[in-house]
Amino acid sequence: MIAKRWVPVPEQRERLCRTGELESGQARRFLVGPHKIALVRIGSDFYAIGDTCSHADYSLSEGEVDVDALQIECWKHGSCFSLKTGEPDTLPATRPVPTYDVAVEGDDVYVVIDG
Ligand code: FES
Repeated sequence: MIAKRWVPVPEQRERLCRTGELESGQARRFLVGPHKIALVRIGSDFYAIGDTCSHADYSLSEGEVDVDALQIECWKHGSCFSLKTGEPDTLPATRPVPTYDVAVEGDDVYVVIDG
């Protein structure tokens, strides 16, 4: 019998921008390797989700940010995605987009991507 070993998944941590480069309610698209990421600022908080809508190949960072609902709306067909969970709460999208941890250190904003 082969014993199973726990193997840590490597993380990739990438600096995206300075905090002052985004205003509250603004979203911006970043490419980190193969990952397309929409970074959204709401107040002093930052959220990172997959930038490609799960319904079709359109950029979520070009959509409207709802600062009260913590959502971003796909500009193409109107599905709204949670910035916390990546889940859509309106059709036509039915699948979530990925979410990523964000770290703010000083004036720098980082995204953390699992393996
Ligand atoms: S492409 Fe986003 S809802 Fe259709």
